[in-house]
Amino acid sequence: MAITQTRTAHLQAIDAAHHIHPFCDPKSLAERGTRVITKADGCYVEDSDGNRILDGMAGLWCVNVGYGRQELVDVAARQMEELPFYNSFFQSSTPSQIALAERLSKITPGDLNHFFFANSGSEANDTVIRMARHYWHLKGKPEKYKFIGRHLGYHGSTLAATSLGGMKHMHDMGSSTLPGFEHIMEPHWFAHGGNLSPEQFALRAAQALEDKILEIGADNIAAFIGEPIQGAGGVISPPPGYWPEIERICRKHDILFVSDEVICGFGRLGEWFGCQYYGVQPDIMPMAKGMSSGYLPISAVAFSDRIFETLNEGGPISHGYTYSGHPVSCAVAHANIDIIEREGLVERVRNDIGPYLQSGLAHLYERHSIIGEVRGAQALAGLQLVRSRDTREPFAAEDNAAMICRDICLEKGLIMRAVGQAMVICPPLTITHAEIDEMIDKADAGLREAASRLGLD
Ligand SMILES: Cc1ncc(COP(=O)(O)O)c(C=O)c1O
Repeated sequence: MAITQTRTAHLQAIDAAHHIHPFCDPKSLAERGTRVITKADGCYVEDSDGNRILDGMAGLWCVNVGYGRQELVDVAARQMEELPFYNSFFQSSTPSQIALAERLSKITPGDLNHFFFANSGSEANDTVIRMARHYWHLKGKPEKYKFIGRHLGYHGSTLAATSLGGMKHMHDMGSSTLPGFEHIMEPHWFAHGGNLSPEQFALRAAQALEDKILEIGADNIAAFIGEPIQGAGGVISPPPGYWPEIERICRKHDILFVSDEVICGFGRLGEWFGCQYYGVQPDIMPMAKGMSSGYLPISAVAFSDRIFETLNEGGPISHGYTYSGHPVSCAVAHANIDIIEREGLVERVRNDIGPYLQSGLAHLYERHSIIGEVRGAQALAGLQLVRSRDTREPFAAEDNAAMICRDICLEKGLIMRAVGQAMVICPPLTITHAEIDEMIDKADAGLREAASRLGLD
């Protein structure tokens, strides 16, 4: 009797034969078989075996309004019928680009009123680099071209964005670093704070920026870039006082301050943008992900009035992407912002589900000594897994503690992501109390089982 392959096995075999995945080891992916996600609704995704899984990662830090929004589908369909594409090069625009630029100017803080569109966070950050350097050229200071980022910072995967970020494994792959990029320590108190209080450590970590500026000379530096909370680095949230000090140092040395809002933007921290949560005002602000809740690819870079005035006087901008401001993506992003506003999702995170999620995580911390630290804020969180909380002893890399925990949680129907030795959580902003309870219950069971598998009880 012939044995027929299941649909999942069939898809997995084709995937292994023809599809190269980002950030995956192809061999082990092929051995284990890729997970095929077929549909999604609200905060749940469904795989090709019919398992319904609570998506604690909002796709990839992006589905802020949740899955299954017919309104966004309708807007996209209408825009496709009317005008599926036109470019924004050479003196042309489309109504949806124009409307989105104006709309963004109403929600971005301070004088960030001018927007350049791209299609991904990586392209947005390449745009940041080119525009900041162009700005300093126009100011008569072409030698101000270097960027300072942070270890474990993530700004994307193009060559320039990889250089801007501080991920060593990415730098090492294919010698992917360009000259002109420097990195300072990440403000991770649990890892580097020693006996300092979090507040003392915040100033020490910010001082690393000034030390670096003095080392290479402010005259050679275009900008400092940081994520309000470092997402892909493991949800590293700086202690109080860090961001105002960083802003002060940038101003003192006349260095542009770039807040990468690709994860923290669009309500994640209970403000429209993460810099507002920390009370600082950047000069340049790349954004993506939650901008369209991932329904279509789009990103933007916001520039302050001061920078735009200079760019405006500087002649042609020799930069752009065919799909900069794709009309369908712009229409969907606009409708997505409508949803965030109409449903009060920013306030909901701040006053309701952010605190509710954080109290659930505090409960996990009380129950599981494998959690060394709960990090993050509002609807973005990380649980650092440790061998010993008291001594802050980490697991050895080969223990694979977070991966083990992640896989157990997945078996239980919860997607969390493992980053280094941390579990990270970033659910849709529409998540309900009952869904958060389910997430905490599943994480509770997953942590207990992981601790036991790792020999902690
Ligand atoms: C802070 C930050 N910046 C930039 C990027 C790159 O975005 P993309 O993957 O859309 O290129 C990411 C992606 O996770 C990110 O987290």
